[in-house]
Amino acid sequence: MGAKLVKEGVYSVGCVDWNARNFHGSSYVTRRGITYNSYLIKDEKITLIDAVRKGFEREFIENIKEVVDPAKIDVIIINHIEPDHSGAFPEILKACPNAKIYGTEKAKQGLLKYYGVCGDWISVKAGQNVNIGKRTLDFLDVPMIHWPDSMFTYCAYDKILFSNDGFGQHYATDKVFDDQADYNALMDEAQIYYANILWPFGQLITAKLAVIKKMNLSIELIAPSHGLVWRGHLSEILEKYAYWAINSVKNKAAVIYETMWGSTETMAKKIVEGIASEGVEAVLIDVTKSERSDIASYILDAKGIVFGSSTHDNYMLPVIDGFIHFYKGLKPKGRKSFAFGSYGWSGEAVGNLEAVIAESGAEKVLEGIKVIYAPSKEELDKCFEAGKAFAKKIKES
Ligand code: FEO
Repeated sequence: MGAKLVKEGVYSVGCVDWNARNFHGSSYVTRRGITYNSYLIKDEKITLIDAVRKGFEREFIENIKEVVDPAKIDVIIINHIEPDHSGAFPEILKACPNAKIYGTEKAKQGLLKYYGVCGDWISVKAGQNVNIGKRTLDFLDVPMIHWPDSMFTYCAYDKILFSNDGFGQHYATDKVFDDQADYNALMDEAQIYYANILWPFGQLITAKLAVIKKMNLSIELIAPSHGLVWRGHLSEILEKYAYWAINSVKNKAAVIYETMWGSTETMAKKIVEGIASEGVEAVLIDVTKSERSDIASYILDAKGIVFGSSTHDNYMLPVIDGFIHFYKGLKPKGRKSFAFGSYGWSGEAVGNLEAVIAESGAEKVLEGIKVIYAPSKEELDKCFEAGKAFAKKIKES
């Protein structure tokens, strides 16, 4: 898409992966595609911030050439080494033979392990900076936002925070700024991104947001390495991150299930009806028909999460099995839960689900409900009542 002006002397030179439909293996469906953002600063020292994914090297270098000869780049800052940002690094090193490379020591070690090269490297940490002329670029290490090597780079001259994965969205676009995009789509993608990439690191994000606030940085733009630059909706995204990072929950619930012959689904519908009858928002999610990443986004602030599965081969069904373990890995906090499911002769699924619910740290607030073959009228009434009781537990806490 070529180089685009972000601010006088600052260009966006990354690449748009319009057709990317998966990220992190198959765990995250990116239905709007992905961008791998990189920023070029023209100052006394020409500076490149971050690279792009392997496969985009040629396009990336052509974008840089629209602004400057890559051989004239003096400084490359590597905020994060995950291959969506570093895949093109070896080619960039060749194109920029005079550059000094700045990043954390962990980034250096990671690049050496991935590619066997790190260039003329200078390891930096929080409190250090590099002067590039009119501008001084300050480094802020942000381990686990998103990997141990991660850091942000702040430019006081332009009032830009280059936040790499932080504040990203998987949103392929030819635009640069948030206020040039559809607001609802943008915020949806920001939430899906947070839920799938950053949810487990909420405590660290809260701490880093406090550090940034204490530093009293003047920030007009947040320039992430995925999606649009925050300008018009900057305060909204900062508020959202503060809300998500403390594991905020509200009175809403999801009933997530996999069914074999429809009995578990019939139970799930009654549980949802029971929850809704108490005025608590509830959604029914057949885990085989929804994307894991969308479910994660919905339950990001759901206080109640109910899991259901039929028993198959003395265990829960395979798709809910995959999902509930994915859910556990998100490290949810402050959730209420219970399990249900139908069975033919052994009925282990409810116990299997309860075991993972306990491992996830959620509070089991109701006993599990098991139904042999198909639910009777009385058993469906029990499901409805369980839904009501669950909604009351949600409302009273
Ligand atoms: Fe966009 Fe952690 O990589």
